[in-house]
Amino acid sequence: MKLICAANWKMNLSYSEAEVFMTHFMKDYDENKRNHFCFFPQALHTSLFKQKKINWGAQDFYFENSGAFTGQNSPELYKELGASTMLIGHSERRQFFGETNEAIKKKINKTIELGLVPMLCIGETKAQRESGQTLAILSEQLDAAFDTKPKSLLVAYEPVWAIGTGLTAKPSDIKEAHDFIKEKLGPETLVLYGGSVKPSNAGEIFSVASVDGFLIGGASLDPKSFLEIYQQALAVQKKD
Ligand code: PGA
Repeated sequence: MKLICAANWKMNLSYSEAEVFMTHFMKDYDENKRNHFCFFPQALHTSLFKQKKINWGAQDFYFENSGAFTGQNSPELYKELGASTMLIGHSERRQFFGETNEAIKKKINKTIELGLVPMLCIGETKAQRESGQTLAILSEQLDAAFDTKPKSLLVAYEPVWAIGTGLTAKPSDIKEAHDFIKEKLGPETLVLYGGSVKPSNAGEIFSVASVDGFLIGGASLDPKSFLEIYQQALAVQKKD
């Protein structure tokens, strides 16, 4: 079954807290289930993922491999350290760090060039939803991200108003957005939902046929709740 639980740790967990997380997580982790999980830790946590058979990648990176770009992280270096999937265009990057569509497109291209998988985040604000613009915004964000759809691509649909707020989009709204994305990019495109996913709502959300997994912030900081979300989704009977 298609199911990806991706953890977006954001700027959370001290190094020792992340070590404790990994110790607990590895006890229950089965590397045969590798494709069901992905982690986006802080750059300074990445040594914790070295030599572990776990999918992980950058929360953000620069679109050049090297050079005079003080303070930036190289995507090539991420690759060297074992990253497989790169998070691109998260709404916090767009909102707080002025991430532009142009930079997002360059990051997607760089990721593809390095043979890694981009996970593109898109989503509408509360005002955009309330004014009926949701699908137009999603369409605009997808159109701006690439000229031709990359062969391997993950999309995370994250309504901005649902991130870290405890508010979750209704299953019918999630279905509408995910169906729209798959219609636009092709049914094989995996689309994850993000925005206040927790063990208590994971089953209901994963019951939506076009939801292929989750991008999880707050609830991914505790191995118990992260794995519980996975278990809740696994318990949902889906075709395929
Ligand atoms: P949240 O964050 O689960 O804390 O809402 C999701 C995200 O921003 O990726």
